[in-house]
Amino acid sequence: LEDGPPSTEIVTLTSHVLSQQQRHPIATGDLTLLLTAIQTTCKFISTNVRRAGLLNLMGAAGSSNVQGEDQKKLDILSNDIMINSLRASGKCAVLVSEENDDPIIIDAGHRGRYCVVFDPLDGSSNIDAGVNIGTIFGVYKCAEGSEGTLEDVLRPGSEMQVAGYCMYGSSANLVISTGQGVDGYTLDNGIGEFILTHPNIRIPNRGKIYSFNEGNSLFFHEPVQKYLESIKYPANGKPYSARYIGSMVADVHRTLLYGGIFGYPSDKKSKDGKLRLLYEGFPMAYLVEQAGGLATTGYERILDIKPTAPHQRVPVFLGSKDDVEDVLKFHKESA
Ligand code: AHG
Ligand code: MN
Ligand code: MN
Ligand code: MN
Repeated sequence: LEDGPPSTEIVTLTSHVLSQQQRHPIATGDLTLLLTAIQTTCKFISTNVRRAGLLNLMGAAGSSNVQGEDQKKLDILSNDIMINSLRASGKCAVLVSEENDDPIIIDAGHRGRYCVVFDPLDGSSNIDAGVNIGTIFGVYKCAEGSEGTLEDVLRPGSEMQVAGYCMYGSSANLVISTGQGVDGYTLDNGIGEFILTHPNIRIPNRGKIYSFNEGNSLFFHEPVQKYLESIKYPANGKPYSARYIGSMVADVHRTLLYGGIFGYPSDKKSKDGKLRLLYEGFPMAYLVEQAGGLATTGYERILDIKPTAPHQRVPVFLGSKDDVEDVLKFHKESA
């Protein structure tokens, strides 16, 4: 550590977004206000995650969502926080949440031009063990002339205006892209602001880590099995390391910073894998591509998919360019 007082030249998420807005003369400030609402929800959820053990916020809520998963108390609380804050921002028209069966169409009095798709609390199975969890979001703009319908969110991920996540770990880390690279912010609890700590994140072209739930190996298709063999028993005698947290946010965060590959493939039991396209696959694919990596189903670019339903699933391989190209080779060979 250097001696002397701390630097006062800090860049907060708010000031960064404002300065980007000033560089776009036609910007109305709507997106800036929406991002302010999103970062406030992340602070609020972060506070609740950290107090969960003290406030009886651990454990199951006793209900289940449209995909048949048991909801945790924190899933429901985080979802309520997101919905209330996004509605109050006055900038949203349609909201799609993992925890709501149907898209929420915002009433005329609060309606804005943006649609937000989100996973309010990702990594639910890790909550009670105190392992990293997060919030994932993506933002679309309503089609010209639309007041906000399901069609406005059933669009390819490449059309998103913003994608990001906040990981609640040893600190709260907000990682976000508006289509000009990826920036990472760390929440300074003392001043309540996200500080720019990871400007212009670039994923290494090749990594040394693979991240799959190998407990599903019995059901994996041949290309995935052969790919995993190739990195565990390589000709050069240097196998990859395994890291799998089971919270997509945390596994993707590590992959962005360290490189390597994260996968949740389709298998003999789940035709489209497990992860949801709109609010897990798309935002993460967007961030990884913006950081210089790749995101594919094994056969097509994730961001090119045109969704047909809000909760549809998607097979995912994402991460370092060279590693994802390797897994693509195994899929081509088997086709
Ligand atoms: P969620 O907690 O939002 O339902 O998402 C869980 C997802 C994702 O976070 C993670 O990558 C994956 O489920 C883990 O699944 P397995 O437990 O099957 O490995
Ligand atoms: Mn869930
Ligand atoms: Mn999730
Ligand atoms: Mn979730």
